[in-house]
Amino acid sequence: MSEPHIFVTRRIPEVGMELLHESGARVTVFQNDEEQGLTAEEILAGIRGCDVLVPLLTEPIGRDVLAANDRLLGVAQMAVGFNNIDVEAATELGIPVGNTPGVLTDTTADLAWALMMATARRIPEAHNYQVAGRFKLWGPNLFTGADLSPGGSGERKVLGIVGYGRIGQAVAKRSVGFDMDVLAHDPYNKDGIDQDALATWAELPELLEKSDFVSLHVLLTDETHHLISEAELRRMKPSAILINTSRGPVVDETALVQALQEGWIQAAGLDVYEDEPAMKPGLAECESAVLLPHIASASRDTRGRMAKMAAANAVAFLRGEPGPTTVNPEVFETEAYKKRTARVR
Ligand code: DGY
Repeated sequence: MSEPHIFVTRRIPEVGMELLHESGARVTVFQNDEEQGLTAEEILAGIRGCDVLVPLLTEPIGRDVLAANDRLLGVAQMAVGFNNIDVEAATELGIPVGNTPGVLTDTTADLAWALMMATARRIPEAHNYQVAGRFKLWGPNLFTGADLSPGGSGERKVLGIVGYGRIGQAVAKRSVGFDMDVLAHDPYNKDGIDQDALATWAELPELLEKSDFVSLHVLLTDETHHLISEAELRRMKPSAILINTSRGPVVDETALVQALQEGWIQAAGLDVYEDEPAMKPGLAECESAVLLPHIASASRDTRGRMAKMAAANAVAFLRGEPGPTTVNPEVFETEAYKKRTARVR
């Protein structure tokens, strides 16, 4: 049998690389350039020569890519999201797909809160003003923003959480310190919401109408594509703030730009973009938008744990064993998988 080979599309944190090397396999990293992704041809060339692929969410792994190598034993992505991978095709072809759930829940929920605070209190605008030397005199109208806590109005704010999985729930947990009321919508977790002490179930239109903050925590699927479009933005309060740390295409970004320009809503905090990394025209110029480069899971510890989890999946796949966090575990029972992995088991 030829030397097993793991192909890593872009360098992952060292703790993950070490685990890959310890497996004894030959490990190839396509490149270290942080700013340039792989072309479709480069991804294809990489997958053709490897036993296990370790990609990132920036690489589209479609049916054509997966079908290009009948020796491929698995795809171990370093991300919790896997909308860039055609998992249905992978399952049909007998290829397990791994992701990194759980470890980034807190870090992502923290960032959603950072965006809520930054948008509500206009922190980036105020920072830019200060560093530009424009602060000449304290004034009662200087950078007035919105409260998260009852604050000056004495009224509890409403936090609307769309998508009440691990991350949505972690966002809700943090609202206690701000004395907020939480509305939640998630058709896949209605029972969970009904039993949850913190959140109250709301249909999406009601949630949008009542919330002061709307935070999105859904997977990107056909169903959630443009879940927040013009009609939904128009339903929100003019004082409301939209936060998106999920996936860009969940929001119709062109409609959002119009909403911010015309004041349908107060502000938006985005970590993800519809045509990432590009932004729709006008978004960058919106003063009420706080815009981050997809860093929700970017704490050093969390990225390290994600890398370790991806590596653990990769090493298991290499041995023809189930990865600890496989998104399509049903694949292990298929004939296609058994045939594919027969040479290593
Ligand atoms: C993910 O893991 O899906 C995030 O978007 C990046 O950490």
